[in-house]
Amino acid sequence: MLTTTGPHGTRILGLGHYRPANVVTNHDLIARGVDTDDEWIKSRVGIAERRWADPDETVVDMAEAAGSKALAASGVATADVDLVLVATCTMPTPVPAAAPQLATRLGIAAPGAYDVNSGCSGFVYALNAASAAVLAGQARNVLVVAAERFSGWLDMTDRSTCIILGDGAGAAVVGPSEEIGLGPVIWGSDGAQYDAVAIDEGNHLFRQEGQAVYRWATSQMAPVALEACRRAGVAPEELAAFVPHQANLRIIDAIAKRLAAPNALVARDIVTSGNTSAATIPLALSRMVERGEIPSGAPVLLLGFGSGLAYAAQVVLAP
Ligand SMILES: CC(C)(COP(=O)(O)OP(=O)(O)OC[C@H]1O[C@@H](n2cnc3c(N)ncnc32)[C@H](O)[C@@H]1OP(=O)(O)O)[C@@H](O)C(=O)NCCC(=O)NCCS
Repeated sequence: MLTTTGPHGTRILGLGHYRPANVVTNHDLIARGVDTDDEWIKSRVGIAERRWADPDETVVDMAEAAGSKALAASGVATADVDLVLVATCTMPTPVPAAAPQLATRLGIAAPGAYDVNSGCSGFVYALNAASAAVLAGQARNVLVVAAERFSGWLDMTDRSTCIILGDGAGAAVVGPSEEIGLGPVIWGSDGAQYDAVAIDEGNHLFRQEGQAVYRWATSQMAPVALEACRRAGVAPEELAAFVPHQANLRIIDAIAKRLAAPNALVARDIVTSGNTSAATIPLALSRMVERGEIPSGAPVLLLGFGSGLAYAAQVVLAP
């Protein structure tokens, strides 16, 4: 009989986020020559402004800023972090991964370190990997960071995509807990639609089949969200917040309506952060917690979805 040294439960011990200083409004995009208008973007997508990194600001720079804040908020010493995970799909090169470099910058000595690429759902996948590692006794605490720098991958001649994406990072420290603070993850994918969201091999530019993704998200994601609640033993009425991937405000509202969670504050971070892919969920959650909008210990539903097409949903307790 094998044994494990892991604890009974895991939870998020602290959150952090980083948004680049450079604000890009819809009017700024028009000034750069994009054939669009403020009203179209606000009414069809919900974005008023997004942040773009400075030319010399990297994915790892943003991950470091968010990760150091999450560590400080958690109270966990760097010496007690055994694993560092980075969810990203915008590293400029396939190798090296961001995670080992990030760990060194933060002064975390010799942790396990790897990147997770599942597009916009990457943070929830990484969070679940972190929880599994702690539960299995393979890591005492895990730093999970999602960081994206999409401004380097945009086709500025494609007005249906260049207006959507932004840069930023969010982070969480996952550690042991007496109670279960990270519920079962509900995940899946539809690889038949693998080509609907992509960064192309040839030109390295982001493209998507917007309407196909919109239809998939609005029709398929609400049942996934509800199943995550059911498996966690949390009724939708008990949710304090719903933090879905920030792809489009109309998608967010459509899923929230089907979720029917009257007491849940719905994340609408897309309005001022745009779509930062894997980073949207921890960025939105960290900002909500920082503003005092979610009480400590309250149940929050996370729902990631996007390229793959892959998805992952999970109920977590706020730190
Ligand atoms: C991308 C998205 C906002 C586009 O909205 P849409 O309503 O599907 O837009 P369409 O591409 O069908 O275009 C509709 C019209 O708006 C126009 N349009 C597209 N982008 C525009 C823009 N930025 N400004 C003004 N008009 C625009 C199109 O040219 C088209 O005009 P036409 O009817 O005269 O030809 C929407 O499909 C979407 O959000 N999809 C989900 C994608 C997503 O979540 N991706 C993230 C991956 S996780």
